[in-house]
Amino acid sequence: MLEVEVAGIKMRNPVMLASGICDLTKESMEKFSSAGAIVTKSVGIEKRAGYKNPVFCETECGILNAIGLSNPGVDEYIKEINEIKIENLIASIFGKDESEFYKVAKKISPYVKAIEMNMSCPHAKKVGMEYPSDEINSAVENVKKTGKPVFVKLGMENILRRAENAIEGGADAIVAINSVKAMKICIDFAEPILGNKIGGYSGKGIKPIGVRCVYEISQNFDLPVIGVGGIMNAEDVIEYMMAGANAVQIGSLIYYEEKPFAKICKNLEEWLDKNGYSSINDIVGIALKK
Ligand SMILES: Cc1cc2nc3c(=O)[nH]c(=O)nc-3n(C[C@H](O)[C@H](O)[C@H](O)COP(=O)(O)O)c2cc1C
Repeated sequence: MLEVEVAGIKMRNPVMLASGICDLTKESMEKFSSAGAIVTKSVGIEKRAGYKNPVFCETECGILNAIGLSNPGVDEYIKEINEIKIENLIASIFGKDESEFYKVAKKISPYVKAIEMNMSCPHAKKVGMEYPSDEINSAVENVKKTGKPVFVKLGMENILRRAENAIEGGADAIVAINSVKAMKICIDFAEPILGNKIGGYSGKGIKPIGVRCVYEISQNFDLPVIGVGGIMNAEDVIEYMMAGANAVQIGSLIYYEEKPFAKICKNLEEWLDKNGYSSINDIVGIALKK
């Protein structure tokens, strides 16, 4: 009932773990065995320390983070994942140009089912949302040379133009969205809370933005879309899928509920049953027809 297939990858359910959430170590990822797939922390060619503290704070309707893409570098990270027991592991990678993207992808591709190119971190300048739109095409083309399916993760800004460039380069799926560029001021000290001042906003508050992005991409292009942003329960998954998502990812919810996947899947099955659907694929994009 919940099985889906995205770019040739068969998942027993459409609910994946999003990049950056409890995915730096083999042990932390193996805890999420009920997820349809797991996306690794974004890794780059070299070790990156990230930003100074605080890198994280709560807001009224979600979380702000500016971790700064800290990661051990692709060679060290491969040592972490080379014996991992996860059926569908997807590598999230970033790079400052097409050659760096290709080098990271080539190294990590033997260990994973697909590559997710992170071109949307809201606080990482050129290795994030400022990656030039007109260079997306060739970077994707290069990563495709690994022979693995390539997902391109975009943020809300200029998303249709960037999706078009990714598709021209041969993207197999679009992942939408990353966290949204945002900040919080501490009024007692009259200064930004995050060490980097500006960060990414995720969780409940961004769901309507994510749903809109998935809807517009599905309306304009014919390729699988993976929805992410503010998913807190099975109803949110259904909403994203009705907007056109073939699968979804969960991030911030893990900070409130350690293991939500089994519960969400059970509730999805119950909802489908109650509403007369035999497969979750039957609801994909149904809101686009209205
Ligand atoms: C602490 C934290 C770290 C993140 N790190 C990454 C990352 O390394 N790469 C990436 O593509 N997205 C990263 N994200 C963004 C998430 O994958 C996701 O796109 C975003 O949080 C929206 O989903 P959510 O509302 O379910 O959290 C991070 C998010 C959080 C909260």
